[in-house]
Amino acid sequence: MRVVRTIADLRALLRPLRDEGKRIGFVPTMGFLHDGHGALIRQSAARCDATVVSIFVNPNQFGPGEDLASYPRDLERDQNLCLETGTTVLFLPEVAEIYPTGFQTHVEPGRLAEPLCGQFRPGHFRGVATVVAKLFNIVQPDVAFFGQKDFQQTVVIRRMVRDLNLPVDVVVVPTIRETDGVALSSRNTYLDEDARKRAQGLSHGLLAAKAAFDAGERQAAKLVEIARRSLADVDSIQYLELVDAQALEPLAGAVDRTAALCAAVFVGGTRLIDNVVLAPSAVETGLNVSLSPQRV
Ligand code: PAF
Repeated sequence: MRVVRTIADLRALLRPLRDEGKRIGFVPTMGFLHDGHGALIRQSAARCDATVVSIFVNPNQFGPGEDLASYPRDLERDQNLCLETGTTVLFLPEVAEIYPTGFQTHVEPGRLAEPLCGQFRPGHFRGVATVVAKLFNIVQPDVAFFGQKDFQQTVVIRRMVRDLNLPVDVVVVPTIRETDGVALSSRNTYLDEDARKRAQGLSHGLLAAKAAFDAGERQAAKLVEIARRSLADVDSIQYLELVDAQALEPLAGAVDRTAALCAAVFVGGTRLIDNVVLAPSAVETGLNVSLSPQRV
């Protein structure tokens, strides 16, 4: 595994690979890696000839009062995980490498950035879209891998890739969970023992709603209610919404298309997000092909 810190060094390393027709996979991260990131890197290593992982805590996607200064970091552990999971090149840019003096051009996502997390984190998806577009231009991957846990992020990025004709295949990898159901997240490190226990309600509720959906429940309000019942022990619910999985618009009545049940909660001062995707069968949607909503 090669470790590079500048765009010039990264490009110099990747150019011969690209010239040889090698397929380049890319996993953008903010570090403090866990098995969820490991799953993305493994998928890339399995499908591509070379895998680039970036670790960059992007200041432009944090709002005032958010955890930019305290965002957890452990570069040694991250490097080991990258090595073990099949990373070819680890890219570790400084802030000035990505945002040199005078930087002023941004990618402005549209309506998809407004609901769910967008309501509570103004500017967040603008920051994400901008840095991901820049990283795509820097790495020029054939395929990029993102985790389903950040569901809205994956929808915003897929839209950006289409809208800006970026030649990147976006693959969304299912959320990796602890044995108790809690979705892996770098921010889980903020949870003390009590908060960690209470955080289980989030995944339990979402997974209970998914189980009800899989068993035939189709009423949006009932599915939301099932999830809400498990959230009694979290400190507050920022949102819990059932939305169209592509348009992110709220769904009411009977769910007749692929939906996402998404939530953000606070537990012990930490904001956690999670989601489940609810996909009606091809028979219900009138389609006779199997859909793969996770890939574009
Ligand atoms: O999901 C993340 O870790 C970040 O939002 C990303 C995609 C690396 C952009 O900074």
